[in-house]
Amino acid sequence: MQLPVLKNENVEEMTLGKKHSEFFLKFFGGCMMMANKVRHSLQGYKKPRLIDTKDYESIVTYDKSVVDSYEHWLKFYLPDVSFENKNILELGPGADLGVASILLAKGVARYSALDAHNLLSTVDKSFYDYLLSELKKEYKLSEEKWSKIADSINSNLLGDSDAQINYVADPKFDVSSLKLSKSLDIILSHAAFEHFSDVDKLFISLDVVVKKGTVLIAQVDLQTHSRIIKDMDPNNIYRFSKSFYKLCSFSGSPNRLRPEDYASILEKNGWKNIRVVPIKMLSKNGEIKWLNTNYKNNDNMDILVCMLLAQKK
Ligand SMILES: C[S@@+](CC[C@H](N)C(=O)[O-])C[C@H]1O[C@@H](n2cnc3c(N)ncnc32)[C@H](O)[C@@H]1O
Repeated sequence: MQLPVLKNENVEEMTLGKKHSEFFLKFFGGCMMMANKVRHSLQGYKKPRLIDTKDYESIVTYDKSVVDSYEHWLKFYLPDVSFENKNILELGPGADLGVASILLAKGVARYSALDAHNLLSTVDKSFYDYLLSELKKEYKLSEEKWSKIADSINSNLLGDSDAQINYVADPKFDVSSLKLSKSLDIILSHAAFEHFSDVDKLFISLDVVVKKGTVLIAQVDLQTHSRIIKDMDPNNIYRFSKSFYKLCSFSGSPNRLRPEDYASILEKNGWKNIRVVPIKMLSKNGEIKWLNTNYKNNDNMDILVCMLLAQKK
């Protein structure tokens, strides 16, 4: 299929600074991948973002920015649709129930989330006292609505799957563990699709919970995730052969799917009006000569971060 890329006037352009040799970047990137593999084998997947887990103010600011982004792209894609009274699923929600709580404050009917890693324990329960007091001020919540959100957080943390917040961590990342009917209005995801090991299987299993018209709003970070190398060579992961990359993979390492792969998986699984909107692109000076053969002739390697927007047929 032809890649349905939309123009984005506000795209962020990344210009590379100091030029390093292709040999150095490939060698250094390979070493970093092996080191990451060892680190993850020892520690597992623990830190989905750089913010200190005790810095509650920055966590809330970050969670708000994720919800703002979801709202922006929903409006961009379907101007007449809002979150109000909707049944939402977030895939790969990360370390806390901040996004869940903000969405409930904005009138979402029910929030479900599925993750392969249970990261909620990385944030202390006192975070939710801070979060709720912030939400109360910002959204001028009535006492009734405020305590409903507080109850939903507590019930979920206590494992009640009927709560208004339905967060499930399942190492198999199995949609059926959410115990949902065919009821979802909107699926959201932020910086997570690139971590999913089998996106095709995920969309097949989502068929049980989506209905005609369900909307997908997903931000995908296609870059290398190694923090040391990201700024000097954002496409570093695409330099390596399939076999070497597989050798260095672990649960959560980027799957190296490109926008056209996501678009064809969506099309194959009965999604329509598929749109790819670049939000971060590599400027012309970032061209890489030593890309692996699977990516060398790809015309869209300059897309570093994009939105995937689609609707179920
Ligand atoms: C970078 S974090 C993003 C979290 C959150 N959405 C955010 O924007 O901060 C990636 C998310 O994907 C999840 N994840 C990582 N590997 C996964 C896998 N193999 N299958 C399913 N989810 C995975 C992580 O647990 C985490 O919630």
